[in-house]
Order: sequence, then structure tokens, then C-alpha cells
Amino acid sequence: MANKAKILIVDDEVTIRKLIRQRLSREGYQCSEAGSAEQALEKLAHNSTELVILDIRMPGKSGIELLPEIRADYPDTAVIMATAVAEIDIATQCMKQGAYDYISKPFNLDEVALSVDRALEKRKLELEIREYQQHLEQKVEEQTQEIRRVFLGAIEALVFALEAKDKYTAGHSRRVTEIAVAIGRELGLPSDDVEDLRWGGLLHDVGKIAIDQLIQSKPGKLTPEEYEHIMTHAHVGAGIVKPVVNEKVVEMIEHHHDHYDGSGLHQVVAGKNIPLGARVLAVADAFDAMISDRPYRSAMSVEKALNEIRRCAGTQFDPTIAAVFLKIPVAKIVQEKCEIA
Ligand SMILES: [Fe+2]
Repeated sequence: MANKAKILIVDDEVTIRKLIRQRLSREGYQCSEAGSAEQALEKLAHNSTELVILDIRMPGKSGIELLPEIRADYPDTAVIMATAVAEIDIATQCMKQGAYDYISKPFNLDEVALSVDRALEKRKLELEIREYQQHLEQKVEEQTQEIRRVFLGAIEALVFALEAKDKYTAGHSRRVTEIAVAIGRELGLPSDDVEDLRWGGLLHDVGKIAIDQLIQSKPGKLTPEEYEHIMTHAHVGAGIVKPVVNEKVVEMIEHHHDHYDGSGLHQVVAGKNIPLGARVLAVADAFDAMISDRPYRSAMSVEKALNEIRRCAGTQFDPTIAAVFLKIPVAKIVQEKCEIA
């Protein structure tokens, strides 16, 4: 209840403090007093205070000097300035600095009580609005997360359905995602970047939907034209996902077959100019491809695949990313592969 509020009366004149205290106590307010700015700060530090009645003129630190300190350190505390009639300009200035109201001497105690009621009501409304806004922001954030989760789930289902058509690629994107996320975490990337890796890993081969199935599952060696056709999936995939994911994810899909030394097909950037996410995906993608059966070759052993990543660090792969990948225990990811296969 507003009339149970705690009020601090700051004035160097004891009679004025007593007068105001008596009147406000009758209204049910819990009042305390301070005879100087220093005493006021001391009381504020040790007692929760809803409202301060602050005398503008006091020996030592004035009310004008104290007001900004109270506003900064106790933003939820309302302040009413107490002024002599001649100080209206200063009082107006104080209101611009965050005071709720001003009362003029000699005091009409009914007006003082009315001003206190109004200031406390205004403060209550402000706190309610702030709490509502915070609640709203939290609600929006929760909804956004939920939409992302549902959307990611739908995309996941689509990718798995596409991969399930082909026994050679079943589960590939999920494993690439897990490896890429593990590398991202090991690199100490911020959670937003790790989340981007999750999307990139899941969607990196979505462009294969536009690739000739006969070429994709050809048991023999690909002709240069066929290889070139297959490799268009990176650019096609980037175009497909562009409307629904952020630019970083689009770029990591576009560049996920780039070689670190620039030797990849039709490559336009090299080294650190290749987006970081794409360099991470390149390692994760190549490792999983090596340990999986392909129409034209059998799966490589994990040991051998790890050696290949080590051997190609600095040429095909970013050496830093390769080194980080080699520190990650891949056993769990490989085990999951066996469960899916
Ligand atoms: Fe790919």
C-alpha cells in the first residue's frame, strides 16, 4: 500500500523535519530524518526508501548536488524538492534532472501530503511499466527461441528425409553438425557463432537437391564435368537457404568446399579470407566423408582419416582448425554413425 511507504525527510532545519514527519506519519507513512546530505546518503544506504523530500538549500552539500547522486544510485526512489518561493527556477531545473515534484516554503502540509501521494503513485506506475516491459521482452525472447527451435526441427526433418534416400549420405549432415559444433566450442566461439555452425552443418549440402542423382550415386570415377556439376551444390545451397538464415550461415555454405590454399574449384577467396564457419565445416565435412562408404570407394578407418586431416592441414584445411579438430574426441560421433548405419 502506498501509504505504508518509507519516506526520508532531508532538511537542515529540525523544526521543518518534525512538522513534515508528524503530518506524513498521520497518513501512515514510515518517516525518517536526515539533517544533511551525508546523513541522507547514510540512511539511503541502509534502508530501502521509496521517497525522499529533499531541501534545496543546506549547509555543506546542497540538495541540488545530492539529487543526481540519488537518481543514479537509487533510480527507484522518488525525490520531491523542497524550496523557498524564490527558488522556483532552480526547482524546475531539478525536475528536469529527475525530481518528481517540488514543494515551496512555507509549507502547506496538506499540499505536501498531496504531492507525496502523487509522486508515489507516479513511481508505482513507472515500476509497473518497467516490470511489464521486462516481462514482455522475456516473453518475446522465449517465443523467438521457440520459433527457431521449431523451424530448425522442420529443416532437420527435411534434410534427413533427403539424405535417407541415399544410403551413402544417411546421417552425414547431423554428424557434420556435431563435429562442427564441437570444433566451434573448442575454439571458444560465442554461442551465436556456435548456433550458426549448427545451421551451417545441417544445411551445408542442401544444394544437392539440384544435383543429378545418377551422377551423385555413380559407382566409378567422376569425369571433370560431373565433378564440376556436383560441386555446384555449394552455391545452389547458399541460394536456397538465403531467405531463412543469416549471412554468416549463407557464406559458410557457399564456401564449405574452399581449400585453405586456394586450390579448390573456381575458388575466389583463400586462407583467412574464407569465412571461419566454412573453414570449420570443411574439416568436419571431409572427415565424415572419409569415414563413410561412397559408391566408388569403401569407408576409410578413423585413424587413417585423422591422418589425412593432419596431412592436409595448411593445404586443404586451415591448420588452426585442423589442430583444434584433432584434439576433439571423435569416438562418440563415430559411434553414433554406427548406430545410424
Ligand atoms: Fe558439400
